[in-house]
Amino acid sequence: MKTVNIGLLGFGTVGAGVVDGLRRNGNLIAARLGVRPVIYRIADLDTTRDRGVPVEKGVLVSDAAGVIDDPNTQVVVELIGGTGAARACILSALKQGKPVVTANKALLAEHGAEIFGAANASGTDIYFGASVGGGIPIIRALREGLAGNRIERILGILNGTCNYILTRMEADGLPFEAALAEAQDKGYAEADPGLDIDGHDTAHKAAILASLAHGMIVPLDAVRVEGIRGLAKLDIRYAADLGYRIKLLAVVKRAGGALDVRVHPALVPLHHVLASVSGVFNAVMVRGDLAGDTLYYGRGAGREPTASTVIGDVVDIVRNLVSASPGRVPVVTTGPAEVVRDFSTRYYLRMTLSDRPRVLAQAADVLGRHGISIASAIQKEGPDDGFVPVVMLTHEADETACAAALREIDAMDVVGAPTVRLRIEG
Ligand code: HSE
Repeated sequence: MKTVNIGLLGFGTVGAGVVDGLRRNGNLIAARLGVRPVIYRIADLDTTRDRGVPVEKGVLVSDAAGVIDDPNTQVVVELIGGTGAARACILSALKQGKPVVTANKALLAEHGAEIFGAANASGTDIYFGASVGGGIPIIRALREGLAGNRIERILGILNGTCNYILTRMEADGLPFEAALAEAQDKGYAEADPGLDIDGHDTAHKAAILASLAHGMIVPLDAVRVEGIRGLAKLDIRYAADLGYRIKLLAVVKRAGGALDVRVHPALVPLHHVLASVSGVFNAVMVRGDLAGDTLYYGRGAGREPTASTVIGDVVDIVRNLVSASPGRVPVVTTGPAEVVRDFSTRYYLRMTLSDRPRVLAQAADVLGRHGISIASAIQKEGPDDGFVPVVMLTHEADETACAAALREIDAMDVVGAPTVRLRIEG
């Protein structure tokens, strides 16, 4: 049987998963393809550490450029990560007309225009299925299965670490730090946990999904990002009392000719399908004008799920090589997207108000003057310090109007602490 040579760059957790997956399922994959993808070379600076997978002598080398330039390397799989060496490697491979598979979300979110441009210029393939959603083939769904749709909305739970933390805080009453430590132990967290909990990892993924769905590059700095650091257990509990669960959501919506792209914690109704996505699982709900709502669910990180998607991309590229149709599914982008600064949504507001007559009316009056309509309000019994928590759910309102109203409310001397403001989506 003919073979196709893969040059693997980066022999970390996912790299080892790819080597292992190709070994375990090699015969099956070869039978499906009619050719056999083989790991021809692996480049990693560390050529001695045992990764627990067998590698033939001479396959593991330290020089990535040598692997890319080797005329026998037919497909390059970049699993180095980061935006330095990985970028140079990918651009070099694409310039040589060699198809590339990458899982590098940060690189695509920051340099997508350059990388997609290089692939299109040389008429070769760039596949990046594992950059969003780990083992969930969401990228493929957007590039192929939903290609006939205008995408109206994407809602995604895209960070397993955050979803794990939120689930453990809500279901088991765990403090934030302990839940984060558990997620790190399980190998889901980024090396810098700030990337997860401050929402940046999700923002990278949101920018990639938005760019693909709308054929326009979404600059990362246009994505509004808030993470889950500092989220209070009290709000998780009040949200539950009101019939909601708090999730870190990526939101992509069309807003006229512009896009609304944001990442923040949001209250999701308990009956919404995304509310039942718990632990490290990820899910993406995509609404197409023809398909309606579609849902993609699975493991968003980890060695084997991520390797599954990387290998799936290799399989597709090998098909394109065999059928001499490189660039069969190009990433077409028409330039930078216009991203809105303001947007409309519903809000959960937790105010800390002095427990005296007319105070609630004063706060409600400020909201009313900013055009914000209250859908429901509950006053909880507070600690014995003269202040009480008042939780309000609003009807849809503009973000700027809400921010202005809260500035006014928080400046009143009857307010004991800054108001907590969370959005409601779903
Ligand atoms: N840190 C990410 C997560 C890994 O927790 O989901 C996958 O991108």
